[in-house]
Amino acid sequence: MEFIDLPQMTSASGTVRLPGSKSISNRVLLLAALAEGVTEVRDLLASDDTARMLEALQTLGLSATDLGDGAWRIGGCGGSIPVRQAELFLGNAGTAFRPLTAALALAGGDYLLKGVARMHERPIGDLVDGLRQLGADITYLGNEGYPPLQLKPAAIRSGGVVRVRGDVSSQFLTGLLMALPLTGVETTVEVVGELISKPYIEITLATMARFGVRVLRQGWQSFTVPAGARYVSPGTIYVEGDASSASYFLALGAIGGGPVRVEGVGQDSIQGDVRFAEALEQMGAVIAMGPNWIEASAPAEGLKGLTLDCNHIPDAAMTLATAALFARGETRLDNIASWRVKETDRIAAMAKELGKLGVLVEEGPDYLRVVPPSAERPLTPAAIDTYDDHRMAMCFSLVAFGTPVRINDPGCTAKTFPDYFERFAQVTRPVPVITIDGPTASGKGTVSARVAAALGFHYLDSGALYRLTALAAREAGVAWEDEAGVARVAAGLDVVFREGSVLLHGQEVSEAIRTEAISAGASRVAALPAVRAALVFRQRAFHRGPGLVGDGRDMGSVIFPGATLKIFLTASAQVRAERRYKQLQVAGQQADLAAILADLQARDARDSQRPVAPLRQEADALLLDTDHLDIEAAVGQVLDWYRDAAKKLQ
Ligand code: DC
Repeated sequence: MEFIDLPQMTSASGTVRLPGSKSISNRVLLLAALAEGVTEVRDLLASDDTARMLEALQTLGLSATDLGDGAWRIGGCGGSIPVRQAELFLGNAGTAFRPLTAALALAGGDYLLKGVARMHERPIGDLVDGLRQLGADITYLGNEGYPPLQLKPAAIRSGGVVRVRGDVSSQFLTGLLMALPLTGVETTVEVVGELISKPYIEITLATMARFGVRVLRQGWQSFTVPAGARYVSPGTIYVEGDASSASYFLALGAIGGGPVRVEGVGQDSIQGDVRFAEALEQMGAVIAMGPNWIEASAPAEGLKGLTLDCNHIPDAAMTLATAALFARGETRLDNIASWRVKETDRIAAMAKELGKLGVLVEEGPDYLRVVPPSAERPLTPAAIDTYDDHRMAMCFSLVAFGTPVRINDPGCTAKTFPDYFERFAQVTRPVPVITIDGPTASGKGTVSARVAAALGFHYLDSGALYRLTALAAREAGVAWEDEAGVARVAAGLDVVFREGSVLLHGQEVSEAIRTEAISAGASRVAALPAVRAALVFRQRAFHRGPGLVGDGRDMGSVIFPGATLKIFLTASAQVRAERRYKQLQVAGQQADLAAILADLQARDARDSQRPVAPLRQEADALLLDTDHLDIEAAVGQVLDWYRDAAKKLQ
């Protein structure tokens, strides 16, 4: 499973140019394809959902040419789709599936429409019912009311009134409205039930208007497509930035100080999700807006929770669920039943994953209540599952302002925002981390602990985790050579580091992990790749505010490659052996200098010659040779380097 580990963040500021809106991109593509004339579409979103739509159009014999840099040339068919028999695979793209179903059902032809398994669990019955009222011939190939669908040519009734339910997904109404000009006669759509996600209908009507079709409407109840309506290319059309994608960055500004500015949406946007900015403002965020940009900053007094009917911002409202963790008082999101039929059951997914972080959540049929963390109930690092849902991945990135977090399958953001995590990194700043790697007995443990104390940072003795793993494996009767067995032990370690003492499964083991036998065992288990992998997130979970000093062998190379300062601390084997010898003498223990030296050299060889994460000085690590330095001088040198590195970051 792919994952991305986010350290705790200290602040966010900067500017992000948003990718094109998914909703607008796919509407524009379909209307350009149905229109008379050639349309040049600029700033089109490059994502899974638009790729599915483009593929489908090409399969249908329509010309779609990539002009580069987000521009596409679409050859319109003037309402007459060239290929009359085709099988279309539409992945999990609801914005392609629903409108294509409507358009192809009315265009007349023999089409099979299918998607991924989740798409086959997303309802489409209300749209099919509406199309059948017009005479369309549609068969469910799987479950009644769900894709996949078989469409056959049929005599389409001319005009009249079609009644469609609007309380499950607004995409049914959108699909019908966009397809109706293909009939050429006046048709009125009456909405049954409370229409949800109304702003998406605004996008539909605005986009249809750009292609020359004006829909006459009575509020949200009735929409009439006039006789003779036909789509005509506007020539060139620009796709607005994605207002739902903007929500993550605006929330980052509101949580992480800001200002964070998004470009591509603003006051003049046709997307309802720009009203997310108002919700954030209600939480206390400072919002500024221009025609084509929005900016968010944190309020001096901090954010406060809110209770909100989210019907008008169904997608962006998800961002409020994780922003709520950084507010005073609880947040309640109401009227979000549509979340249950999206890429995943988003209410259930949100509740489950917030729960993993130790958050108190209440899940209702159509609401979610989130209680922010507190001293008694702090956020705990966790690996978050994303359910192939781009918004889950993006929402949970905000959590990094409270705790290190692992996001599983971050690639799912490709649905709407392929480079989300790169942009995230551009506007956020992680808490500082100093890595001190080096061979055994080089003094790095002592130096690291003192540097951490001087700076008030956390301290990670990563070697202790390998020692604990060796000890726990031995106690569990798992041989040190049993890679899978030891990796399981490593993944399940129940460890508490507390003021110089280490507890394993509740037992004090500070002494037990320092014996010669366990030192040898640690070196063995540390060479096993599965064991190292099992300990990665546990180590990264230490990367919290105000900062961290990590000591080990691969801190700078593998665990914290983006560290603020990387040091390779070493001394010659002779000097290290003499130091260890003196320590043992002071402790009144028997010691043999030659044996200590031989043992050190053997361990050095094992640590530096193993294939995974071998001990070596990274190109970007500073060398600190302590042959002629005492502890004080070494600590002073690290602190000087750190001050320089921190200054450069400002
Ligand atoms: O630093 P130490 O002596 O406590 O480390 C114990 C063992 O764990 C040692 O053999 C090297 C290994 N180790 C490692 O492979 N990677 C780390 N980051 C830290 C220690």
